Amino acid sequence: MDEKLSFFKDGLRLDGRRPDELRPIKIEVGVLERADGSCYIEMGDNKVIAAVYGPREVHPRHLQEVTRAIVRYRYNMASFSVEERKRPGPDRRSYEVSKVSREALASVILTSYFPRSVVDIFVEVLQADAGTRTAGINAASVALADAGIPMKGLISSCAAGKVDGEIVLDPMKAEDNFGEADVPIAMTPGGEITLLQMDGRLSRDEFRRALELAKVGCQQIYEVQRRVLVDRYSSIAAPESCEA
Ligand code: CDP
Repeated sequence: MDEKLSFFKDGLRLDGRRPDELRPIKIEVGVLERADGSCYIEMGDNKVIAAVYGPREVHPRHLQEVTRAIVRYRYNMASFSVEERKRPGPDRRSYEVSKVSREALASVILTSYFPRSVVDIFVEVLQADAGTRTAGINAASVALADAGIPMKGLISSCAAGKVDGEIVLDPMKAEDNFGEADVPIAMTPGGEITLLQMDGRLSRDEFRRALELAKVGCQQIYEVQRRVLVDRYSSIAAPESCEA
């Protein structure tokens, strides 16, 4: 069998998507009572929850910054989230994902409004199917907005990859595992890139096309994030005094 055909059938991918199509996205906001802000997201078979606390007092106190809030981000994969049980607790990969995700979001948070405090972001991957860091960033961004943390804008995130020589949007696990490259990005609504990673090999032209495709994907995700937040907050009844 021709290897090139294995990930595409009649121009469509194994799950029936076009090369430039995102997986279905579902976002719920305000899902956790005890967090200041929270969000549950499904991107294809990824299921991820984000909780935001703060701005609140920093512990340990020596981490305090006198002119701004610090931002902490913990990405964690549940041991049951992957096919082969993941050993609980942090590892090299989760440190890396936490670091780049923190940086992807911190640049839009108006930290100077809250000196000496901390914004804590917790991301729990309940089910993984490639693209968990991007799903986590999307959920965290909505959870930050839900917590009322002032930001310059929402951050949206997705990856593009190369499979069987084709550039595809939002690779699922089979494509990510057996594909030739993976390029996760995060972006502001204005198109400013706050995360850019690359795994694998791409020519300069392929990289440019992957980046453009991922940017279009981020714009589509932004529309979903925005709509969910608008729906949530426009449905909260106006105070009685305003109705009179
Ligand atoms: O999830 P993401 O694409 O951001 O990160 P990755 O390191 O490229 O991992 C790709 C996928 O590999 C994950 O989403 C999981 O489905 C899978 N994986 C796994 O099965 N076991 C792990 N310990 C880590 C990742």
